[in-house]
Amino acid sequence: MRKSLVVANWKMNGSKSMIKDLLGQLLPKLAELNDATECVICPPYVYLNFVAESLSSGTQIKIGAQNLASATTPAYTGEISPVMLREFGCDYVIIGHSERRTLLNESDELIAHKFAVAVQGGLRPILCVGETRVQQEVGQGQEIVTRQLQAVLNFAGTAAFKDAVIAYEPVWAIGTGLTATPEQAQAMHAHIRSLVPAATRILYGGSVNSSNAASLFSMPDIDGGLIGGASLKAQDFFDICYAASEKK
Ligand code: PGA
Repeated sequence: MRKSLVVANWKMNGSKSMIKDLLGQLLPKLAELNDATECVICPPYVYLNFVAESLSSGTQIKIGAQNLASATTPAYTGEISPVMLREFGCDYVIIGHSERRTLLNESDELIAHKFAVAVQGGLRPILCVGETRVQQEVGQGQEIVTRQLQAVLNFAGTAAFKDAVIAYEPVWAIGTGLTATPEQAQAMHAHIRSLVPAATRILYGGSVNSSNAASLFSMPDIDGGLIGGASLKAQDFFDICYAASEKK
């Protein structure tokens, strides 16, 4: 049985006061949830410690980073290693988000290296895959997702996925208010499921909100969500975590 998982991707949002307010509202709500679901918050690097300290009073919430270095050599100015992330309380790291693939030209090969660095460094990668609107319109969605996933499977090996997480995020759904239907998402998740170990959790991401979360999470191969915009609002994020905790 895979435990449901909801991950907050704060992207480049946040300030100390905003985080204080958000966690001040969110933590008491999340404390009421049963432990059927796991919640992870991924703030920008510079706020990891601030969030970790805010969580330290016995909460079950875990912390993740939004990126990490593709190699562990210290001669890598500006980059952050898995050892550092673990020291600052991270269990997870997002890898290959479409914003990094597109805006920072991260290749399948680079992403495969980051995935392997994360696993070797004791972090659980959350590997993002997903097709663009044009690719979807011409019927290439499955081919693109397979290519993105296969690049990492070939490099890191299938066994490396046992404790990993995959987030299927159609690029056309991210931050747009458009969401894949539960059936569309389920079809892609079932395909992804056929390529990875049975224990690998597969999240859906792309405009998940408090209204559509329950129907998405009701699908058998959708194990939870990767949440951007709605993770910045305490009530919305709580509602999404609640929907995941009710997943049968
Ligand atoms: P969104 O972002 O929920 O705002 O669409 C999801 C993501 O980018 O991970």
